Amino acid sequence: MSGSTNFGKVCVFDAYGTLFDVAAAARACAAEPGREAFAEKWVEVAETWRLKQLQYTWLRALTGDHTDFWSVTGESLDFALEATQLAEPTLRERLLQLYFELEAFAEVPAMLRALKDSGSKLAILSNGEPKMLDAAAQSAGIDSLLDDILSVESVGVFKPHPSVYDLVGQRFDCDRAEVVFVSSNGWDACSAAAYGFFTVWVNRRNEPVDRLAARPNEILSDLSALPGLVASRKGQN
Ligand code: LAC
Repeated sequence: MSGSTNFGKVCVFDAYGTLFDVAAAARACAAEPGREAFAEKWVEVAETWRLKQLQYTWLRALTGDHTDFWSVTGESLDFALEATQLAEPTLRERLLQLYFELEAFAEVPAMLRALKDSGSKLAILSNGEPKMLDAAAQSAGIDSLLDDILSVESVGVFKPHPSVYDLVGQRFDCDRAEVVFVSSNGWDACSAAAYGFFTVWVNRRNEPVDRLAARPNEILSDLSALPGLVASRKGQN
């Protein structure tokens, strides 16, 4: 624990949906030649894939039956492809290949650069398995801006288990109130706020706030205003 409060000492980002566009894999695949059947249903596949992926993480955290996020990502894709009558090995393989190297949202590199220049440490805290997080950070060209990539694999349980959020204090020797935690997942933002992080929910889809133990401290529609928000709050401390 540090002595005095240093707001924004560390800015910590959820990965999938927050920095990396999880719909990008299905969208890119749908645009490829020969994927006409998939192109008709790619939005439904992407939605079901993401929903099942998250549900499986929550259920596995609850039952203690942990497996890594890459396996969960494949299993949830299998559900989504079967549900849409699109189960087929080469399509599965291509979608997973694209998911392994997801694109970052357009505003991400400049946003990270601005926060880094203002003196904050930067990290990812994700359900993702380390190899998939490294690959996505590298293909998005943001790996050199990050001080660390923290994965739930080091505690063997998915978010929002508090032991996952504990990884930040253990790595950066900081108080909870010094951490700005950023997630596009409403449930993750609410859970991190309840844990004691200053939490920013990136509400890209204009959804209602989840009814959980705490509300996010701030809500943004994308990440571009984050450096200004952190700078203004730093000025108040
Ligand atoms: C993550 C998921 C929850 O990156 O998006 O942890």
